[in-house]
Amino acid sequence: MSDRNEPVVDLQLDRAHSSRIYDYFLGGKTNFLADRMAAGSVLSVFPSALVAARINREFMHRATRFLAGSGMRQFLDIGTGIPTPPNLHDIAQGIAPEARVVYTDNDPIVLAHAAALLLSTHEGRTAYVQADVNDPAGILAAPQLLDTLDLRKPVALSLNALMHFVTDDGRRRAHAIVDTLKAALPSGSTLAMSHATPDFDPEAMHKIIDIYRGAGTTLQFRSRAEFLRFFDGWELLEPGVALPHQWRPDHPGDATHVTDAEAACYAAIARKP
Ligand SMILES: C[S@@+](CC[C@H](N)C(=O)[O-])C[C@H]1O[C@@H](n2cnc3c(N)ncnc32)[C@H](O)[C@@H]1O
Repeated sequence: MSDRNEPVVDLQLDRAHSSRIYDYFLGGKTNFLADRMAAGSVLSVFPSALVAARINREFMHRATRFLAGSGMRQFLDIGTGIPTPPNLHDIAQGIAPEARVVYTDNDPIVLAHAAALLLSTHEGRTAYVQADVNDPAGILAAPQLLDTLDLRKPVALSLNALMHFVTDDGRRRAHAIVDTLKAALPSGSTLAMSHATPDFDPEAMHKIIDIYRGAGTTLQFRSRAEFLRFFDGWELLEPGVALPHQWRPDHPGDATHVTDAEAACYAAIARKP
């Protein structure tokens, strides 16, 4: 404990963290030498990492605009990342000021910057839960979540660029985790998700897995069929599974400026019947 009786958080600045590597790719300032070195290694085998990160983030922007525009008023965003404006609540509350947003991440540095995520509109509400997606029941039972969201009403769940950090080993199973989250939400809820894939450039993606493993983070990229399975039982919304920049692009030209191998990621939204 510190002098002020606050818990001491170890930000582990000597080791690369996925949130800070992603922040670097997005042009943010919340990254340190270890993160930038890992990011440099990724760029040497996958030079389009900056583009891939940007189109992933822009998928979140468009998905949130679409969902808030279709009437969703409650959002649960797991694997939120270091705040990077516009954040999900900026977009959702820009359309529906009464929107309620719960953010979750397991990286202490996201917690350290969570104040930026808690700047809600007066009419709406935002909350932050420091938690690991490997404990979905814990997230669903978190007091901050239950104070903010009414789980009897539809919730827009987002798991953007998150589940490839969950490897399928003995006890943990990415699909079982997502199934637990889906089961807790009522009809009309949605799942927006993006996920890196080895389908287009397996060699580069294998090298990325090795780089992250060297930095202490395990990754599992998944095929289109494995990605599709996350949505089992829910209705995919048009256009179905797409590359992030091809999911309802704002302008037709936006869908063609990045190749499949440069994007290396799938995105989709589905609704619970
Ligand atoms: C690549 S960033 C994506 C951020 C944001 N969702 C987006 O798409 O712009 C992945 C985030 O997931 C978080 N993360 C990784 N593993 C996690 C876990 N097991 N539980 C919760 N968050 C996790 C990381 O800390 C990081 O902030």
